[in-house]
Amino acid sequence: MDIVILLGAPGSGKGTVAGALAAKNGNLKHVSSGDLLRGAVAKGTEAGKQAKDFMEAGKLVPDALIATMIKDVVAETTGDVTMLLDGFPRNLAQARILDEMGAPVRSAVLIDVPDGIIQDRIAGRRTCPKCKAGYHVRNLPPKVEGICDACGEKLVIRKDDNPETVKDRLVVYHQQTEPLIAYYKEKGLLRSVDGTTGVDNVAAAFLAAM
Ligand code: AP5
Repeated sequence: MDIVILLGAPGSGKGTVAGALAAKNGNLKHVSSGDLLRGAVAKGTEAGKQAKDFMEAGKLVPDALIATMIKDVVAETTGDVTMLLDGFPRNLAQARILDEMGAPVRSAVLIDVPDGIIQDRIAGRRTCPKCKAGYHVRNLPPKVEGICDACGEKLVIRKDDNPETVKDRLVVYHQQTEPLIAYYKEKGLLRSVDGTTGVDNVAAAFLAAM
């Protein structure tokens, strides 16, 4: 098992790219920290109760809370698998936690999208609450409006996908997550792809870069 970290702003396409690549390649496993946390909130677990308010405000949940979840997933992933780790680490402390776990990081790939495009991407996002597939009303619409192509569930708008919270999430990204670019560059692990082209192009560029 090894790990490829997805870096990028909220709405840059991390989940879309990882989901598309994992759907086509059985050796790739998409692990999204946001999905793990939303699952815990939906189930009403103790971790979910602790995470809920942070997430709705667009703030990072406490490092220890998300690190425990990621440690469990890393421990249970074995064999000829590359984990596409989407949303973790999110700050330097989390990157050090990942290093201390002895996690074999192959590369960290930045999906580069300017802030100006982010609001439109997130405003149009629709998500399947059941199978986690992601859509965009214009860029990546489902075949039937409002319905998931993969499982037929009704699509939803995420609670944190409102313009005010997105502004806060971008501030958090620039202050806390962006320093990871220099962190992985220094380790010689950083790759970068242009995230502003179509989904298929970005996925192909990501696969080549990772
Ligand atoms: P999380 O779920 O990780 O959200 P995020 O990082 O803000 O990322 P998003 O899911 O918003 O965006 P994405 O890059 O996956 O974009 P997507 O592919 O959907 O985290 C949510 C919250 O959980 C955080 O705010 C925090 O509270 C908490 N959390 C999570 N991890 C944490 C951690 N490690 N530590 C502490 N707290 C943590 O694409 C967006 C839209 O654009 C979609 O509609 C898509 O269809 C469209 N699109 C994608 N690619 C393209 C393209 N190439 N062209 C056109 N449209 C595209």
